[in-house]
Parts: sequence; structure tokens; C-alpha cells
Amino acid sequence: MAPVTSSDASGPDALTGLRPRLPSPLREVVDGRFERHGIRLLLKRDDLIHPELVGNKWRKLAPNLAAADGRTVLTFGGAYSNHLRATAAAGRLLGLRTVGVVRGEELAGRPLNPSLARCAADGMRLHFVPRSVYRRRTDPDTLGEVLRAAEAGDAYVVPEGGSNAAAVRGCQDLGRELAGEADVAAVACGTGGTLAGLAAGFAGAGRSLGIPVLRGGFLTGEIRALQTEAFGGPRGDWSLDERFHAGGFARVPAALEVFAADFEQRHGVPVERIYVAKLLHALVTLVEEGAFPRGSAVAAVITGRPFP
Ligand SMILES: Cc1ncc(COP(=O)(O)O)c(C=O)c1O
Repeated sequence: MAPVTSSDASGPDALTGLRPRLPSPLREVVDGRFERHGIRLLLKRDDLIHPELVGNKWRKLAPNLAAADGRTVLTFGGAYSNHLRATAAAGRLLGLRTVGVVRGEELAGRPLNPSLARCAADGMRLHFVPRSVYRRRTDPDTLGEVLRAAEAGDAYVVPEGGSNAAAVRGCQDLGRELAGEADVAAVACGTGGTLAGLAAGFAGAGRSLGIPVLRGGFLTGEIRALQTEAFGGPRGDWSLDERFHAGGFARVPAALEVFAADFEQRHGVPVERIYVAKLLHALVTLVEEGAFPRGSAVAAVITGRPFP
């Protein structure tokens, strides 16, 4: 695919030129663990929207790339961030300059891991900051210092995980695409931005369920804040089940690895381990617990693909 030039990078046309597959496919799979409780399992294949802006990355980044209007896009992430990789890829595809502010100054002196190497190969300028600075990245003074140090004073800033009001509004379509198709829409949560938008788009159609992959119990407040920022107040019927983080972010215990590999074999769907595996494992457990009435259709959003 030929990259578009920076002069036409800003408009919606440039994004349409990337040919996203939208609405994303919705596939029912036959899985005995659901079937014996009278539940239909639907997979919402957001991982098929675009080969490089995968899943919720397309839905969250597209409105931000349009808003950047050709300016440098600066964003934040950890050393294995899916969001950094997607932003870097978008920069290459659209001819936009990108800067990735990476958590962990100590990484600057080491060889890049495969995820950061991909970002760099896509033209993203990497700027490593100490963890103490990274923690304060939303504080206006700290952000100002980071922008200055990264020589990106006029950049369009996208927060960690890509979750801001524009991204949340972008995720509404995910809920709208599922309305009338499912009774429950379930998604894994990092920052909660995807659930915030999904629940708004799915409002009136059923309930939305979020499975946080981080420990902490702080997400309910953050999702409310994101919905307020995006829509002026709460939207949709949503809840979180905090039991399925499997020890914390990026922890993939052996049993979860076995579960994910088995799911891949049963259904021929690549299972991203950090988010999607935890979601699917949660759903299997919830069905066993009788959490959904017989006859329900439960849609699991496949928000990503394994990397590499
Ligand atoms: C594959 C995948 N699924 C789900 C999420 C969670 O999205 P959110 O941060 O909007 O909760 C992420 C994080 O961005 C992700 O990379």
C-alpha cells in the first residue's frame, strides 16, 4: 500500500484510503462450554479491521489522527505497548511524524525489544523518560517539560493507551455494530476507553461487561470520567468483573497460556495473550457460574492480535 503524503494526511479521506474492514466481522463459534449452558458465543473480529491498526487501535486512533490535522503525533506507552506500535504504523501509513514517550529511562541504553524496534522501523522517534516522570505525565508542567525535551512542542498529544474523548466516541461504533446481535458485549480493559465507548454505542441493546487486565480496582472511576469527557455524563449499562487479571498486567500464568492455545486450536482464532486471553477465560468461567441467562448471546470483542 503506497503511503499518502503528509499534505493529505489529515483529512478523513486519508484514513478511508487505508481501507478498514468495517463493520468488523461477527462470527458465531460453537463451543461446548457455552453450548451446554444454552449460551451462544459470538466473536467480534475487530482484529480483522486493519492489518496494522488492529482492533480497538483503529477505533481509537482514527478520530485522533484526523484531529491531529497533519501535526506530529506524540503518545505514551510501556516497552511492549500495542498502542505505540499502532501509532507508529499509522504514522508510516499516513506520512505523519510520530514520537513515542517510553516508560523507563534505563531502556535507552539497551538494544530495542522487538516491539520498540518495530516502532522505530516505522519512523517513530522514541523518547525514554524515567518512571517517576512517566507517572506524572498528565500533570501539565511535566507534560510541558516532556514535550520540550522531546522537541515536540506543537505535537498533537494522545494519552497512554490512546484513550481520550475522541477515542471513546470512536469506540461507540463498536457498540452500535453489536446492537441487535448480542445481549451481552464483553471486552478486555486496560484504560477502559474501549468499554466507555462500546457501552455508549450498545446502550439500550443489552449490557456491556469489562474485564480489567490490571490489578487495582480503579477503573470504574476512570471509565465514568472518560464517559463524562466524551458524552457529558454516564452512558449505557456496564459493569466490570475484576477477578480475571491473572496476577496483573502482562502476567500470563501457565494455565492461561494453555487455555489460550486450546482456544486457538478449537476455533482457529489467534488469541492475543495480554488482553484477549483474559477476556475469553473470564467468559468461560462466568458461563460456568451461570452469570448469563440461558438463551443469551454473548459477544466477545477480539481487540487485538498476538505480537510478533
Ligand atoms: C489488544 C487490546 N485489547 C484491549 C485493550 C484495552 O483497551 P482500553 O485501554 O481501551 O481499555 C488494549 C489496550 O489498548 C489492547 O491492546
